[in-house]
Amino acid sequence: MARPTKALIDVEALRSNYALTLQKTGGKCMPMVKANGYGHGTEIVCRALGNAEAFGVASIEEAMEIRSLGIMVPILLLEGTFSADEILTAEKYNFWLLIENHRQKHDLIKAPIKKALTLWLGIDTGLHRLGFHPSEISSVYKDLMSSKKMKSTSVLASHFASADQPDNATVALQLGTFDDAYAKIEIPPNHRVEQSIANSAAILSLPKSYRNWQRPGYMLYGNSPFPQENLHEGLQPVMQFVSAVTSIRSINNGESVGYSATWTARRKSLIATVSAGYGDGYPRHAPNNTPVLIGGKRQPLVGRVSMDMITIDITDEPEIQIGDVVTLWGPDLPVNEIARVCNTNGYELLSGVTSRVPRIAINQ
Ligand SMILES: Cc1ncc(COP(=O)(O)O)c(C=O)c1O
Repeated sequence: MARPTKALIDVEALRSNYALTLQKTGGKCMPMVKANGYGHGTEIVCRALGNAEAFGVASIEEAMEIRSLGIMVPILLLEGTFSADEILTAEKYNFWLLIENHRQKHDLIKAPIKKALTLWLGIDTGLHRLGFHPSEISSVYKDLMSSKKMKSTSVLASHFASADQPDNATVALQLGTFDDAYAKIEIPPNHRVEQSIANSAAILSLPKSYRNWQRPGYMLYGNSPFPQENLHEGLQPVMQFVSAVTSIRSINNGESVGYSATWTARRKSLIATVSAGYGDGYPRHAPNNTPVLIGGKRQPLVGRVSMDMITIDITDEPEIQIGDVVTLWGPDLPVNEIARVCNTNGYELLSGVTSRVPRIAINQ
């Protein structure tokens, strides 16, 4: 029998979340499939969303992994190229490039490519991480256009810092900066510059940010991008992170459980050991009382999370047996809830599920 720790990936839920995104925005949507499809497995996610207009990834290695599966959907490198040689690979494999700094622009202008590429021009509207200064964008556009390395249709793109707080004043400021910069680009009659700014939180809360392209990530995987919310209406969680009870023991009042004895029994207690730990991506910082689900009921984690195991106090549910399925997060135990008690967000938990956890597609 194999180790019971698995990530069950609900393909139907993923497709339904994508359909909801399309229906809500009316525009083109580029699923973000970086970081192993937010931890769900590149292959399962890209095959499930194989009719998307394009995918977004963080590196050429991630893009090549998708091409190696025989999936020919255009792929945008969201950070552009890290070195000039990647431009040749991009030409060969139909990768789209985000050009976000002068080094990338220079490399592209000099690159010995035969075909013009689809380019997205990154503008820094306030996140201050990537992108040209708004005052530079019209001259960058001119330079790229005259280089003949850019196709006649390009995209102006930016990214929100705080779209998950829709009342945050920076959201409107970023949108205003984006619109002002776009208005200053001189677009020749036979050229077109599309726009893209909305991520999941903006798609769900800010219709005025809808442009030609939306870039949904977290919402596709079915959890709320608003950290205070567990689930968002209409979205269905895609990952169910499961394991099983693999050992049960009784300990006496006053005995402790786990490394550094961070939990001590206050009564005679039954402890179930579950075969999942931080080596699988379950957060090591999960405190005592973090819930897991066994037989549909919440039971508290006790003791420190170790690399391969966690321990659960099942004193009040003595009928629990070895082999019972344990849900670490999933549709009935939102990853956002686990993230909150661990002082992180669900993005980190999902993308942190490690490579030793098999991803199993269900509801295909
Ligand atoms: C450039 C860019 N666009 C879109 C997204 C998608 O964001 P979300 O997962 O919040 O929808 C990300 C995610 O980090 C991103 O880096």
